[in-house]
Amino acid sequence: MRTHYCGRVEATDQTVTLAGWVDRRRDHGGVVFLDVRDRTGVVQVVADPTVCATAAEVRNEYVVQVVGTVRPRPPESFNPKLATGALEVVATDLTVLNGVARQLPFPVSDTETVREEVRLKHRYLEMRGERLAGNLRLRGRLVQTIRRYLEDVGEFLEVETPMLCRSTPEGARDYLVPSRVHPGEWYALPQSPQLFKQLLMVGGIDRYYQIARCFRDEDLRADRQPEFTQLDMEMSFLSLEEILQFNEGLVKHVFRELKGIELPDFPRLTYAEAMERYGSDRPDTRFGLELQTVADLFAQSTFKVFAGAIAAGGTVKVLAVPGGDAAISNTRIKPGGDLANLVVQYGAKGLAYMRVKAEGEIDTIGALKDSLTPEIQAALLARTGATPGTLLLFGAGPKEIVNESLGRLRLFLGEELGLIDRQALNLLWVTDFPMFAWNPEAQRLEAMHHPFTSPHPDDLTKPLTVETRALAYDLVWNGIELGGGSLRIYRRDVQEKVFAAIGLSTAEAQEKFGFLLEAFEYGTPPHGGIAYGLDRWAMLLAGATSIRDVMAFPKTQQARDLLTDAPSAVADQQLRELHVRSVKA
Ligand code: AMO
Repeated sequence: MRTHYCGRVEATDQTVTLAGWVDRRRDHGGVVFLDVRDRTGVVQVVADPTVCATAAEVRNEYVVQVVGTVRPRPPESFNPKLATGALEVVATDLTVLNGVARQLPFPVSDTETVREEVRLKHRYLEMRGERLAGNLRLRGRLVQTIRRYLEDVGEFLEVETPMLCRSTPEGARDYLVPSRVHPGEWYALPQSPQLFKQLLMVGGIDRYYQIARCFRDEDLRADRQPEFTQLDMEMSFLSLEEILQFNEGLVKHVFRELKGIELPDFPRLTYAEAMERYGSDRPDTRFGLELQTVADLFAQSTFKVFAGAIAAGGTVKVLAVPGGDAAISNTRIKPGGDLANLVVQYGAKGLAYMRVKAEGEIDTIGALKDSLTPEIQAALLARTGATPGTLLLFGAGPKEIVNESLGRLRLFLGEELGLIDRQALNLLWVTDFPMFAWNPEAQRLEAMHHPFTSPHPDDLTKPLTVETRALAYDLVWNGIELGGGSLRIYRRDVQEKVFAAIGLSTAEAQEKFGFLLEAFEYGTPPHGGIAYGLDRWAMLLAGATSIRDVMAFPKTQQARDLLTDAPSAVADQQLRELHVRSVKA
C-alpha cells in the first residue's frame, strides 16, 4: 500500500506511494497543498484537482494514499522545521482510504490546552500528535535499551511470572479476582513479582528480569497509577556493592544511549543523612535549603515550645531561607497561613520564625523574642550562615514530624522561590534504610521496604527493633523514587524471625508464606534485586510531569479509564457464576 514513510522521503527518491493522514489542507486557488502525516513525520503533497479530482474533497484527518513524484521545493518555500522541508511530492493519484464523519473533539496537532479528560476519552486522537507519540517512542526505546543491556552485558534471562496470584498484601490494597471454579476463593493481581522472582533464584535462574505489570489499589498521584510497569530484576551470588555497581552501569548506559549524556558516579546518602539534611528519604538535591538541627542551642531556652519539644525527646530544626525576609509575610507563617497549614498537614503544630534584619541582628516576636539571648543569636547565625534578608523557619517536636514537615516545606519553597536547577540530573543512592518503622495505629513494627528484605547481619543477633538496619537501597532521581531493592533473606530461621517481629504468628506465617519458608530449606542461594518504576523512568527522560503522559492508556486520578469507561457494572449472571454478590455500602 505504500513504498515510503512520509517523514523519510528523500530528494533522490523518484516515484513514491505514501499512506497517512491529512495533517493540513490549504487551497491555493487551483492547486491544493496537503501536509500528509504518518508516524515518521510530514511531507508536503501538491495536488492539482484537474489531475486528482479527490483533492477537492479531502479534509483534515482524512486517511489517504498518494502516488506522486518527488521534486525540490522552490527555495522561498523551504521549511527548515521539517526533515522533508526541502522537497514536495507532486500527486499523480490521490485515493481517500477513509474520511472523517464527524468533527474531531480537538485538533490533533495542538493538544496542550485541551482538558485531560477530553484527551483521555479520545486518547487515540491525542496519539496522532507529536507530544504523546514522541513519549511513546521514547518509552519503547527505553525498554529496548534496557533489554539489550541486561541480556548482552548482564546475561539476564527474561521470565514471565503469574498475573493471577495469591493475595499477600505488600503495603497497598490488592486488586482481587474471584475464582469461578473455587467458590468463595480469590486471586490477587500482583503488586510486584517479589516472591516469584525470589523463587526463580531458588530455581537457579541466577539472573532474572521482567518488564512486569503491577497492580496496587492505592491513592493516586502524578507519579502513581493503579496499574504500572516495573523493570524488575533479581540476582544470585552478588554482594550489595556489586548490585549497586551493575545497576549504576545500566542507568548510565540508558542515559548515554537515549540522551547522549555521560552521568557522573551516583553519590550515596545514608537514610539517616537524607532525613537529617533534607527531611526526606528521596531528597531533591537540585537545590540547597537544607534542614539544620539547632536543638542543642535551645535545650536551656525559656521558649517553652522549643525546650519542651527537646525535653520530650524531640528536636528543633531550622530552614534558613535566603531572601525569605522580603518574600514571605508573617501572615503566611502564622496559624491559618498557607505555610503553617502545609506543615500542619504533616503533623506539625505550626512554624516559629525569625528574620535576619541586619548584620548580626535577628528580629522575632513574643515569647521567642524574649528568650533570645545574644549567645543564642550569635550561635544561630554562625550555625545557619544566615545573612541579612534571611528568614529562619523553625519546626519543633518529634523528630519524624519535624523532618517530614520541614522537608515538605523545603520542597514547596524551593519551587516557589525558583531555587531548583531545572537542568540538573541528580541521581543518587539512598542506603542503610531501617528495617522497620513503627505503626502507631496497629501498635506494631512494619517492614519499611518489605519483610523479605535482609536485616543487617550484625543486627540479627539482637532483638529486632526500629533500630535494626536493613540491606536495602533506593535510587532517587531529582527527588523522585525511581527504584528500590534489597538483599533478601534466604534462610528460614531469619525469615521467621522477621515475620514474628512484624506481628505474624507462626501459624499465620505458615498459612501465608509456607511455600517460601519451605523453599528456603532446599538450598537457596544468597540473592538480591531491585525494581524500577518504568513509567517514572520514561516520565523523567521525557521531561513530563505525570506518568500519565508516558502511558498509552492511563487511568484518571479516580482510577477510571475514560475511553472504555472502566470499571463498569457487570451482568448479574456474571456475578452469580463467580459466586459474588455486590452490596452497595
Ligand atoms: P517498590 O514498592 O519500591 O518495590 O516499587 C518499585 C518501584 O516501582 C515504582 N512504583 C510505582 N510506579 C507507578 N505507580 C505506582 N503506584 C507505583 N508504586 C511503585 C516506583 C518504585 O520505586 N518488589 C519491590 C522491589 C524489590 O525489592 O526488588 C517493590 O515492588 O518507582
